Amino acid sequence: MIGYAMNDQLRSGTPVGGDVVLLAQGVYRGFREGAARLEVLSGVDLAVQRGERLAIIGASGSGKTTLLQILGGLDRPDSGHVQVSGQDIHALSERERGALRNRTIGFVFQFHHLLPEFTALENVAMPLLVRREPRSVCMARARALLARVGLADRLDHRPAQLSGGERQRTAVARALVIDPQLVLADEPTGNLDGRNAEQVFALMLELNREFGTSLVVVTHDPRLAARMDRVLELSGGRLSGAASAASASGAASAFGATEIARPGGASPLET
Ligand SMILES: Nc1ncnc2c1ncn2[C@@H]1O[C@H](COP(=O)(O)OP(=O)(O)OP(=O)(O)O)[C@@H](O)[C@H]1O
Ligand SMILES: [Mg+2]
Repeated sequence: MIGYAMNDQLRSGTPVGGDVVLLAQGVYRGFREGAARLEVLSGVDLAVQRGERLAIIGASGSGKTTLLQILGGLDRPDSGHVQVSGQDIHALSERERGALRNRTIGFVFQFHHLLPEFTALENVAMPLLVRREPRSVCMARARALLARVGLADRLDHRPAQLSGGERQRTAVARALVIDPQLVLADEPTGNLDGRNAEQVFALMLELNREFGTSLVVVTHDPRLAARMDRVLELSGGRLSGAASAASASGAASAFGATEIARPGGASPLET
């Protein structure tokens, strides 16, 4: 079952069954602040199944970006483990970790991190180009993804020539271009108006439905959170069932969404 029982299982050390794409156990991360220490993550446990859609909510500064970066192997935990597709991502060499990320994880950064000297098309094609796939194949695929996020007529613009929302959509296209097993998205619709947010989110959901891509999405948008299978809240350095899942599902019915958050309940994929 997908739900909070999974966290209980993890805490009790019981092996988790099923097709787990992402597994985090006892993740701690803090930062030195002069003589003091700021504990941001204090024992995060998480299991994400293949095809599961998870929203992570939490106050600004609660550690959502820190957590996502650790889950994606971009930052190290002080202690604890993270497995992606069964591999301990922090035990790999830098090169192996890069290769695992390039094959498996689509990362959408909160502040997009596009390469300023390259065009939108080149930025989106980059994860495929570094695999040394034929350039024409990489470009065709990148062009198709950019069209899906409504940027077919911005292919040759550099990031500085794109609006904030266009940059964010380019970053989403770049994350999805590899057909990832797992998408880690840090406020992917934060800079977008309603119509563009919907377009980007619909694209992620399509990928989830068509290819069983697992989605872990940090969001402040209750409408978006309410359309995921599960909503967890990061608070006090730990993840737990969101009290605000109720408000998220309330928002879902208010906006006519058909799928509502089911903390602890079955995923629609299982039913
Ligand atoms: N490299 C760092 N050094 C010191 N403190 C850091 C570092 N990175 C993050 N922090 C602190 O850790 C806390 C969590 O930061 P984080 O960026 O993960 O929050 P967040 O939940 O993503 O917030 P937001 O919703 O505003 O994006 C913040 O108080 C931040 O100042
Ligand atoms: Mg953040």
